[in-house]
Formats: sequence, C-alpha cells, structure tokens
Amino acid sequence: MLSTNNNLFSCYTLPIGYCFDEFEIEKVIGNGGFGIVYRAWDHRLKRSIAIKEYMPASLAVRAENLQLTLRRKELKKKFQHGLNDFIREAHFMSCFNHPCLPLLLRFWQKNATAYIATPFYNSLTLKAVLATQPKTINEYWLRNILPPLFDAINTLHQAGYLHCDIALDNILIQENGAPILLDLGSVRKMTKRLSNDAEVTIRPGFTPIEQYLVDEKAQQGPWTDIYALGATLYTLITGSPPPVSLVRNIEDHYQPLIKRQPAGYSAPFLHAIDRALTIQPLERPISIAQLATLTKIPVATSWENAALPDKLIETQSNSMMLET
Ligand SMILES: Nc1ncnc2c1ncn2[C@@H]1O[C@H](COP(=O)(O)OP(=O)(O)OP(=O)(O)O)[C@@H](O)[C@H]1O
Ligand SMILES: [Mg+2]
Repeated sequence: MLSTNNNLFSCYTLPIGYCFDEFEIEKVIGNGGFGIVYRAWDHRLKRSIAIKEYMPASLAVRAENLQLTLRRKELKKKFQHGLNDFIREAHFMSCFNHPCLPLLLRFWQKNATAYIATPFYNSLTLKAVLATQPKTINEYWLRNILPPLFDAINTLHQAGYLHCDIALDNILIQENGAPILLDLGSVRKMTKRLSNDAEVTIRPGFTPIEQYLVDEKAQQGPWTDIYALGATLYTLITGSPPPVSLVRNIEDHYQPLIKRQPAGYSAPFLHAIDRALTIQPLERPISIAQLATLTKIPVATSWENAALPDKLIETQSNSMMLET
C-alpha cells in the first residue's frame, strides 16, 4: 500500500512503498535542485540501497501517474540536457571502481526520467558532522579521512577528469570513519578551459576563480578540485567557508589559517590548506600528490591501504553477485 511522503516535497517525490521490481522506496534522504535521493529496501538481497532520481523541480512536475512532465514545453531542451548529465553521472560511476566513490548497482529509465541505484551508506555528510558533532572535528580526525579521499580524487585526476563539486554535502563519513565522495554529476574532462555553454556548478566559497571565468584564460586542472577541498577543510576547521573567490580576486580579505591559529592544529597542516586556497590557480599545489606532501598525509593507494570498512567489503561482494 503506497502512502504519501510526509514532507514538504511530497508532491515531487515518489510515494513511500513505491516499487521498482525488488526495490521498495522507504524514505526521502536527499532533495537537491536536480535530483531526489531515496533510501529503498532491496527485497531480493535484504539490504538498504540508495536510489537517485533525476527530478529537476524547476523544469518538471510529477503527474498523477508518477511520470515527470515538463512545466512548459520550451523547457524540453534543458530537461534533456540535465538528463544527459545524469546518464553521464551513471556512466562515470560505472567507470571508477574505488572504495571511496559510490558503487553503481543499477541504472534504469522509467517514469519519463532516470534512476541510479548505489549501496546505502550508513553515514553523515561532512555538513551534518559540522552541524551536529563539531567537537569530533580535529586534525587527527581529518588526517584519518584524508588519505582515502585524496586517493579517490587522485583516481579521477589520473583518468583526466575533475570532480568540480567537492563540498561538505558531497562527502559522506561512514560509521567507521571511511569517506565516500558523492555526486559525480559535475565531473568534467580536464581541459584548459570549459566551453561557454558548459554548465558549471557554482558554490560560493568553494568554487575557485577559474570556474567563474570560464570564457577567459582560466586554466582548470587538479588545482581546481584542490581549492574546493581546501575550502571544505577550512569550513570544517573554522565553521564557515572562505570568502567568495570572485570577490577575493578583486579584494582579498582571506585570513590565512596560519595567522588565525585555530587551537589544536599544526602549522604545516594549516599552511597546506592556505596554499590550497590561493586565489591564483598555479600558485596552489598542482596535484593531490603535492598536497599530500605538504600536509604530510599519505595518499592511500590501494583498496587494502584505504582501511576499508567491513560493510563496504560486504557491498563489493554483493555487487559481484549482482553481476553474475
Ligand atoms: N548512497 C547514499 N547513501 C546514503 N546517503 C546518500 C547516498 N547518496 C546520497 N545520499 C544523501 O543524499 C544527499 C544528496 O545526494 P547527491 O549529492 O548524490 O545528490 P544531489 O546533491 O541532490 O544531486 P545534484 O547535485 O545532482 O542535484 C547527500 O548529501 C546524502 O545526504
Ligand atoms: Mg550533492
């Protein structure tokens, strides 16, 4: 029996109890501008999974038969463009097999939209950790989550891609401390510059200057993600993001961490974050390896070194079962 979701977005989301074959929707766990993330129960494998649905609320509504319909027919091109990006997200997930990148379980199209299924990670986003357990955050804790996170980002870079949307709500921390880097929807091929019509995700405080100035000689590279990662660490340490890079580019009021000296943090660690947050792209560490050297934190290069959680190992073997 289907019931209506008891939340503000109930007219957009699929109803609780809705089924895709063996997957039954249990709860809405994320609701961004372009997608809805549900926790669902996999009746066949008896475990929770996460299902992400492409649902751009500004472009489409859900009809009574649960199909998405355009708000206006002129929005078709935009809707299709976003759908193609969503399909690309699934494609990227299928290309990267890393313990700290979400594992693609299934991709399918239905209800005039598309769906991505991944394991459900029992976790909190860094945003939620900062909001609910700020005392957990210290240099020791950060040093533990960074090696596998460095490795996940480096894996994308080595393949010639940038994540382009590293931020607190795109990093999950599982119960045992292992991170998952979410949202491969913004991943872009590393090119010297983006074309004018390329969609850029702008996050004030996290987006480096070269992502604003896409039509100028703005070089994008690993340093682009390194700025966003620096902003993520800065926010975790100070409680608020650094000033917007576009404003900093005109008049820079950034207060270096090395001067602020937050209690309990070592000078080399703070200095490395300041370097990552340099406005000029090429003055930042130019690779994850360089950032790792500056912070004196290793890049966990393999599955074994990444101190993998039991749950994730379980998940991997489940996915192998799915494939056979
Ligand atoms: N596999 C998962 N397990 C647990 N929680 C998840 C999972 N995937 C997503 N979430 C939760 O849902 C939220 C949104 O997920 P995600 O970042 O993938 O989508 P989004 O930001 O809404 O997408 P977009 O930026 O494409 O609109 C996350 O911040 C997290 O809280
Ligand atoms: Mg996200």
